[in-house]
Amino acid sequence: MSRKGDLKAEDDRLVSARAAADEGNVETGLRPRSFADYIGQGEVVERLKIFIRAALERKEPLDHVLLYGPPGLGKTTLAYVIANEMKVGLRVTSGPAVERPGDLAAILTNLSDFDVLFIDEVHRLSRAVEEILYPAMEEFALDIIIGRGPSARSIRLDLPRFTLIGATTRAGQLTSPMRDRFGVVCRLGFYEERDLVRIVTRSAAILGIELDPEGALEIARRSRGTPRVANRLLRRVRDYAQVKGPGRITAEAAREGLRLLEIDELGLDPVDRRLIATMADKFGGGPVGLDTLSAAVSEEAQTVEDVYEPFLLQLGFIKRTPRGRVLTAAAYRHLGRRPPARLVREDAAQPALWDGTGGE
Ligand SMILES: Nc1ncnc2c1ncn2[C@@H]1O[C@H](COP(=O)(O)OP(=O)(O)OP(=O)(O)O)[C@@H](O)[C@H]1O
Ligand SMILES: [Mg+2]
Repeated sequence: MSRKGDLKAEDDRLVSARAAADEGNVETGLRPRSFADYIGQGEVVERLKIFIRAALERKEPLDHVLLYGPPGLGKTTLAYVIANEMKVGLRVTSGPAVERPGDLAAILTNLSDFDVLFIDEVHRLSRAVEEILYPAMEEFALDIIIGRGPSARSIRLDLPRFTLIGATTRAGQLTSPMRDRFGVVCRLGFYEERDLVRIVTRSAAILGIELDPEGALEIARRSRGTPRVANRLLRRVRDYAQVKGPGRITAEAAREGLRLLEIDELGLDPVDRRLIATMADKFGGGPVGLDTLSAAVSEEAQTVEDVYEPFLLQLGFIKRTPRGRVLTAAAYRHLGRRPPARLVREDAAQPALWDGTGGE
């Protein structure tokens, strides 16, 4: 279980939207390669298809694309799909991996015309590297300074005409000059239940898992709107069905497996429940400051904010106010407790539960 903001522990969490260290290979096998296999995100896919078709017809590179949204929703997958649909090469790197301007220059000069350069965690590029990227994105040119001091001079190199695809979970941390240079900006939202059903059904077929439609629905419902979580729960439930159940994932096997894994019907795990129970029991439902709350559950503030809160906010279980976090009546009900009267009045005007349709 996660303690003291330990990232490794967070990655062990079954419902974490972040990829676990050993998950890469499985994910690669399950990753859709074309739009035909890419499920959901209808609006984003529609727009991209049009831009790609137009670029192909004009024999031009695709405009630079920024993909943003929470972890595990398919940003990396989409970058692969775009390169594949454009029928061009793909070079993959990430913000923290490109340490010096020279690293980026080396990558850029090695691209071929129309290639896609995918930079994950693009908000983590250093300023010095960003400076190199601006003319590269705008004019397909590289400005290099030769020499030092008064004798230094700048020469300009032509680059292949490439497409930059940037991905980030934190669009707010992107500098505005960087953001402005993307012609296409796509926000990925949480998936609807029926899309998650299709995703686990597809994954089960690839992995050779027998999955009933009702079993797929049980898993989809508890996947927090996130394909990565859906695929992970599918694999864990398979283990259960294989050892304890009929081998096939029936509704019953899925329910029982998920119960043993302590994932409740909304996809909350024990850490989530501990967090909201602490808010109810120790702080009377809040408002409570992030630091105080984090200390009470022995987690780092950053971990609570980045990892636990987003889905609880999405569910409408927690609200952020200027005075701190407050618990909502819906959260009390989920814990099986009576919400305080003041909250019942406040909540009357608001939807009680997440409807699975995304949103910030
Ligand atoms: N639209 C989709 N259809 C089917 N499967 C998907 C889809 N999107 C994502 N997946 C599955 O979910 C997994 C995680 O997706 P991906 O790695 O693209 O997420 P991400 O947004 O890049 O996450 P991170 O922010 O952690 O980098 C993929 O391996 C893939 O199997
Ligand atoms: Mg990714």
